[in-house]
Amino acid sequence: MIEPGIYKEVMGSFPSGVTVITCLDEAGGIVGITASAFSALSIDPALVLFCPNYASDSYPLLCASKKFAIHLLSADQTAEAYAFAGKGKDKAKGIDWHLSELGNPLLSKAAAIIECELWREYDGGDHAIIVGAVKNLILPETEMTPMVYHRGKLGALPTLA
Ligand SMILES: Cc1cc2nc3c(=O)[nH]c(=O)nc-3n(C[C@H](O)[C@H](O)[C@H](O)COP(=O)(O)O)c2cc1C
Repeated sequence: MIEPGIYKEVMGSFPSGVTVITCLDEAGGIVGITASAFSALSIDPALVLFCPNYASDSYPLLCASKKFAIHLLSADQTAEAYAFAGKGKDKAKGIDWHLSELGNPLLSKAAAIIECELWREYDGGDHAIIVGAVKNLILPETEMTPMVYHRGKLGALPTLA
């Protein structure tokens, strides 16, 4: 048996970016989850994946919606990262968002956005592995500094040589 605390400590030693994955609920409101378990997967076809806990309230809504937007957060989006890591229906209160042409709710100020349609779902233990088919890619006009997550803390990616 692997002790969960040590598992989390070891995985937290691997720095990652931070994403917020959003979709609309049946009432047309924005829902979403902060997730660091995200990866590029395939170029042709263009696929990406993320892993929501089965206990996540957003998980069934993301599956039902069949489409979602994955925001690769910028260092300016700490409020968004914490808001979507919370619980409840009002996560986006005070947060700026608009609907894309594809019908996904998009947050402002992201380092990049990947609009997807649900492609496949796999079992990953206590998390689901959601694979999205990339339908649209968005980069900001001016490059944004990405957010990083390491040992439970959020920060800005330092300048790399
Ligand atoms: C930086 C960060 C990364 C996270 N990564 C994940 C993740 O990859 N998968 C996941 O299920 N939860 C992750 N979480 C936790 C969820 O955001 C949190 O459980 C959230 O409350 C889920 O909301 P929901 O139940 O409304 O979907 C992360 C939280 C933070 C702050």
